[in-house]
Amino acid sequence: MRVKGEQRRKLIVVSNRGPVTYGRDEAGARVAGRGGGGLVTALRSLIAHHDVTWVASAMTDEDRAVAAESGGAAVEERARDGSPYRLRLVAHDPIAYDWFYNVVSNPTLWFLQHYMWGLPQAPDIDLGLHNAWFNGYVPVNEAFAAAVVEELERQPEAIVFFHDYHVYLAPAMVREAVPDVVSAHFVHIPWAQSDYWHVFPDHLRRAVHEGLLANDLVSFHTARWRRNFLRACEDLVGAELHFDRGVVEHKGRSTLVTSHAISIDAGEFAELAASEPVLEEERLIAERRREHLVLRVDRTDPSKNIVRGFRAFGIFLDQHPEHHGRVSMLALLDPSRQDIPEYSEYLGAVQREARAVNDRFQFDGWVPIELEIADDFPRAVAAYKQYDVLLVNAVYDGLNLVSKEAPLVNTRDGVVVLSENTGAHEELGEWVLTVNPFDVYGQAQAIAEALAMPTEERRRRGEGIRAHVREHDLEAWAAALLDDLAAVAAPARG
Ligand code: F6P
Repeated sequence: MRVKGEQRRKLIVVSNRGPVTYGRDEAGARVAGRGGGGLVTALRSLIAHHDVTWVASAMTDEDRAVAAESGGAAVEERARDGSPYRLRLVAHDPIAYDWFYNVVSNPTLWFLQHYMWGLPQAPDIDLGLHNAWFNGYVPVNEAFAAAVVEELERQPEAIVFFHDYHVYLAPAMVREAVPDVVSAHFVHIPWAQSDYWHVFPDHLRRAVHEGLLANDLVSFHTARWRRNFLRACEDLVGAELHFDRGVVEHKGRSTLVTSHAISIDAGEFAELAASEPVLEEERLIAERRREHLVLRVDRTDPSKNIVRGFRAFGIFLDQHPEHHGRVSMLALLDPSRQDIPEYSEYLGAVQREARAVNDRFQFDGWVPIELEIADDFPRAVAAYKQYDVLLVNAVYDGLNLVSKEAPLVNTRDGVVVLSENTGAHEELGEWVLTVNPFDVYGQAQAIAEALAMPTEERRRRGEGIRAHVREHDLEAWAAALLDDLAAVAAPARG
């Protein structure tokens, strides 16, 4: 079999969040809403180019009703552009899913992979976590694997395309049931260095790495995360590493490990930027804005480093009284994972810090930090068009799509201030002001430098980012991954 990037393929896409989630409107009719998150936004365009069956968790009661009505089988759906695809919603046991999502996937794997623990205090790998692993993460992965195996019986030639940290175990489970499956796994978040993985007990970190090595291809956004994974396979599971070729051999199989940064659909963004809901929001922002606008758009995730960003803005205001009343920061924050105490506590810390800065500096109707906690995509795109400085100071971030989306539609020659620990920095570094995410003083200086930068220079940098994003778009990303698979799938399937 040949698997060429540009060819239309049968794909079984597996991710925790699906492209749509169902609910009921006021009249009680079933409606399909847009699934949240960067991953889903990015992957949706695969539907237009390939025959996709998407396997995802049932998230809402209505999702569970859809799954029950079809007896767990896939239903026919259509994307916004009319492209057909099949959606298979897996209705997990609710308690198992709670352990899977609220104990293992986010406060453990996500925290580990973003280096978010201060080790003297956290984590406690206690009985609760062991229980959540064996009675939550494992069965949810088994349910995903069982759904994939059934889909493969229906379309044996399909390629399985796993996504992210929710499904690290499923590839090995599928491989055991269907030894000649062709599968790829894209990891959308950073890969921590092997020493940090040592925080996680041996059998658990081994299960993660061996689960991934059951794929033919594992891919990351950047060379940095890829290198960490390659080394970790050698250090943690004793795999044989051919570093120069990016090949890992383990248990008689070999896995190709590559990196391709995900991107956005530039055309879709241009359309969005001109759409009525965005224009309406833009009018509201333009009416209220001061001379300069510093913007941040994030989920309320501790990895996004929002509190330090506010502190940095406070330091900037301290050092630049001439900007008082002339510049404000708009923080559009999407409330995220609020059933997890670390996340709800972090949201509180974000609100406290904004308050502290505002209490100190506000006067005469000028509020230095305008905090909006809402999931409002049209408003985010409108703000993208209006910023003078975009602050992305993540502690660590697999990629950070905001740093690609916002410059594409910005109309003010805005400058991007970007953390060196975001995956996007590997691509955009030459056009941004680079900051260390822990150095609040450095971030304050970067904000000042961006505001003082001559127009020509700001334009040159913005154009650089736009040209890069247009050339390295989402289609190029998907084609590159499928080309990688071509290299490994041909020998596997003959
Ligand atoms: O890859 C990270 C990711 O899965 C992205 O899709 C998205 O930005 C975010 O995490 C969504 O998280 P959740 O599904 O937990 O809301």
